[in-house]
Amino acid sequence: MMNYFEVVTILLVLILFSSDLTSQGNNNGLIFNGFQKANMSLDGIAKITSTGLLMLTNGTKQEQGHAFYSNPIKFKNTQDEASSSFSTSFVFSIISEYQPLSAHGMAFVIAPTRGLPGALPASYLGLFNESNEGNVTNHVVAVELDTIQNLGFHDIDDNHVGIDINGLTSSLSSPAGYYDDKDGGFRNLSLVSGTSKRVWVEYDGMVKQMNVTIAPLKFDKPTKPLLSLSIDISPHINQMMYVGFSSSTGSVFTHHYVLGWSFMINGKAEELVLSQLPKLPRVGPKKKSRFLTMGIPPIILSLVILSLFGVAYYVRRKRMFAEVVEDWEHDYATRRFSFKDLYVATEGFKEKELLGTGGFGRVYRGVLPDSKIEIAVKRVSHESRQGMREFVAEIVSLGRLRHRNLVPLLGYCRRKNELILVYEYMPNGSLDKLLYDQNENGCLSWNQRFRIIKGVASGLFYLHEEWEQVVVHRDVKASNVLLDNEMNGRLGDFGLARLYDHGTDPQTTHVVGTLGYLAPEHTRTGKATTSSDVYSFGAFLLEVICGRRPIDHQATSESLILVDVVYTWWKKGDILKAVDPNLRNNYVSQEAEMMLKLGMLCSNSESVDRPSMRQVMLYMEGAVALPDISLLGISTIGVTLSSRDGCENFAMSNPSSKGFSYSSSATESSIFGGR
Ligand SMILES: *[C@@H]1O[C@H](CO)[C@@H](O)[C@H](O)[C@H]1NC(C)=O
Ligand SMILES: *[C@@H]1O[C@H](CO)[C@@H](O)[C@H](O)[C@H]1NC(C)=O
Ligand SMILES: *[C@@H]1O[C@H](CO)[C@@H](O)[C@H](O)[C@H]1NC(C)=O
Ligand SMILES: *[C@@H]1O[C@H](CO)[C@@H](O)[C@H](O)[C@H]1NC(C)=O
Ligand SMILES: *[C@@H]1O[C@H](CO)[C@@H](O)[C@H](O)[C@H]1NC(C)=O
Ligand SMILES: *[C@@H]1O[C@H](CO)[C@@H](O)[C@H](O)[C@H]1NC(C)=O
Repeated sequence: MMNYFEVVTILLVLILFSSDLTSQGNNNGLIFNGFQKANMSLDGIAKITSTGLLMLTNGTKQEQGHAFYSNPIKFKNTQDEASSSFSTSFVFSIISEYQPLSAHGMAFVIAPTRGLPGALPASYLGLFNESNEGNVTNHVVAVELDTIQNLGFHDIDDNHVGIDINGLTSSLSSPAGYYDDKDGGFRNLSLVSGTSKRVWVEYDGMVKQMNVTIAPLKFDKPTKPLLSLSIDISPHINQMMYVGFSSSTGSVFTHHYVLGWSFMINGKAEELVLSQLPKLPRVGPKKKSRFLTMGIPPIILSLVILSLFGVAYYVRRKRMFAEVVEDWEHDYATRRFSFKDLYVATEGFKEKELLGTGGFGRVYRGVLPDSKIEIAVKRVSHESRQGMREFVAEIVSLGRLRHRNLVPLLGYCRRKNELILVYEYMPNGSLDKLLYDQNENGCLSWNQRFRIIKGVASGLFYLHEEWEQVVVHRDVKASNVLLDNEMNGRLGDFGLARLYDHGTDPQTTHVVGTLGYLAPEHTRTGKATTSSDVYSFGAFLLEVICGRRPIDHQATSESLILVDVVYTWWKKGDILKAVDPNLRNNYVSQEAEMMLKLGMLCSNSESVDRPSMRQVMLYMEGAVALPDISLLGISTIGVTLSSRDGCENFAMSNPSSKGFSYSSSATESSIFGGR
C-alpha cells in the first residue's frame, strides 16, 4: 500500500505533467499537441475541430482565418530594448482539393494585435492589405509558407518559404525543402502535397539571426536551416506581442491545418509529441468529397454490418462444418468425405432423413451433392482419440471390401468426438424391420429368408476367409443385415465394434456386441473371433427362421432364449414347431429342419465345436450333411450366460434389450449351462 506522501507526490506530478502537456508549461513557453485545450483567439473562418485540429481555413473561397494565442507574449522588458530570442515549432498541412493547384498559403505571425483587422485574403495571406502592405508601422514579423507565385511581391516560385517583415515581399525566401543531414543535399518539399510537415523558426536575440527550417513530419530537425537571415527584429517588435497563424484562400478550395505548436521565449521550444497530434481528415477532390462525405457513412455502415454478418456466418459455418484432420489421414484422402458435403447430402441431418438409431449411433439417408449417389451416413459419437489412427486405417481398408453381400463402405469423416461412416444406401432397409413390422410388405417368404441367410453366410465367409485379412464382424444380427433393391441380404456395420475395442483401456474387457448374439467365450474373455461370429450367425439364422429375437424378454422364462426353445422342440422331435408361425406352413420342411439344426450347431457354447463359415456354406448348399446333433452333449448347446468378470462393462447395443436385466436372466437362462 502506498502511503499518504507517495499518493500526494504522484498526484502533484500528474497535475504538473498534464498541465505541461496540454497548455503552456510556464510563462515563456506554450505547447499544444493538438488544440483541444489551447486558449486560442480565432477569427475569420478559423476553427478548432473536435479532434483538436486547428483548421485555419475550411475550404471556402476568398476567405482568411487567424488563430492567435489568446495571451500576449512579452518579447522585451521595455519597448526600447532588443527583442528576446524565441523559438517555435509547428506541424502544418495544406490540403488542396485540386492538387497541385492551391489557394495561397499560410504564415506564422508575430503581431501587435490578436487578429489582423483589415487584412485581405488571397495573396495578402490575411496579413496585410493594399494600403498597409510594407509599412514599417505594421510591426508584423511573419514566416510565410506560400503556394502561389505573386510577382507583385517578387515571389520566387509557387512553393516557397520566406521571412516577411511588415510586408509580403520576403526579406529572404527559398523554395520549400530541406538539407538532408546525410549528404547535405537539398530535397524539395511540396507545401500543398497534403502531408504533414514540421517547421522550426528560431531567432537569436544576441546574434540577431533568424533561422527557418522545414522537414517532413517524421524527420528530426535538419542541422542546416533552409533560411538563415541576419536581422534584428527589435524595431519591428513591441514589448508585448501576440503569436499565431494566418492563412487565406483564393479561388481554389484549400484547407490549412495546424496540428501542433510549441513556442518558447528565451529558450528552445519544447519538442512536439507527434503521436499525440490529431489525425488529418481524408479529403479528395471536391465533387468526390461531397459524394463521399454524404455517401460513405451509410455505405461504410452497411458494409461493416454486412461484413460482421459475413464473419458471423463464416465463423458459424466454419464451426458447423469443422472437422478433425490429422497428418496421418492424408493417405486416406480419397476415402474422406467433407462434413459439409454430408451435411448437404442429409439436408442438415434432418429427422426426416433418419433411417434408424443403432447401437453405435444414428443413421441418416442422403444424396451426395455432386455424384447424386444415395448414401447412408452413420454418426458415431466417440470420445476416445486413442486408437483412432488404427481404426481409420481399418475403416479405409474395409472400404476396399467388395462382396455382393456386404454393404459397401464408401468412406468416413471425422469431427471432434464424432466419427462418421458413409455407406451405400440400401433401399429396402434392415432385415429386422421386415421381420418384425409385419404390416410392412406383408411377411418375408421362406425363399426370401433362405436367400438372405445364405447371402449373409456368404458375406461372412468372405470376411473370414476370402479376403486378404481375416475380418471379424463382431456384430452379426438381423438389424445389421440390410436389403438391397434385389432383396439380397447384405451385412453392414462391419468393423465398427473394433472402434470400442481400440478405444478402451486394455485393463478392462469391454465387450461389444448384442446380447443374445454374443458367444459365451466372447463375453467371458472379451475376445472376438471368427468363431464368435459364427455363434452370432447362428443366433441370427434362428431369428430369421423362427421370426423372433434370440432373447425375447417378453416371453416366459422357459422360452426366453430362442436356442432353448428350438432345442426343446427338437428334443420333443417336433423341431418344425419352432418355425415362424407367420409363414403358415409355406416353407420347405427339409430346408427348415436343416437350418434349425445348423442354428443350434452354431450356437454351441464350446467355440471349438462350432462349424466354420466355410462348413456352414457347405451345409446350406447341401454339399455336406449336417452332423448328428444328438451326438452333441446337451450342455454344449445354448446360451451360457452366467455372472462373470466384466459384466459391468457389458455394452448392449441392441436397443430392444432395454430393461432386460442381464444378471437375473443369466441365472435363469443357464438351462443349458449344465454346471
Ligand atoms: C467555413 O466557415 C464559415 C464560417 O464559419 C462557414 O460560413 C462556411 O460555411 C464554412 N465552409 C465550409 C465549406 O465548411
Ligand atoms: C483565454 O484567454 C483569455 C484572454 O487572456 C482569457 O480571458 C480567458 O480566461 C482564457 N481562457 C482560458 C480557458 O484559459
Ligand atoms: C488596412 O489595414 C489596416 C490595419 O491593419 C486598417 O487600419 C486599414 O483600414 C486597412 N485598409 C483598408 C483599405 O482596408
Ligand atoms: C504607414 O502607415 C501609417 C499609419 O497607418 C501612415 O501614416 C503612413 O503614411 C504609412 N506610410 C506609407 C509609406 O504608406
Ligand atoms: C526542386 O524543385 C525545383 C523547382 O521546382 C527544381 O528546379 C529542382 O530540380 C527540384 N529538385 C529536385 C531534387 O527535385
Ligand atoms: C542558424 O543556423 C546556423 C547554421 O546554419 C547556426 O550556426 C545558428 O546557430 C542558427 N541560429 C539559430 C538562432 O538557431
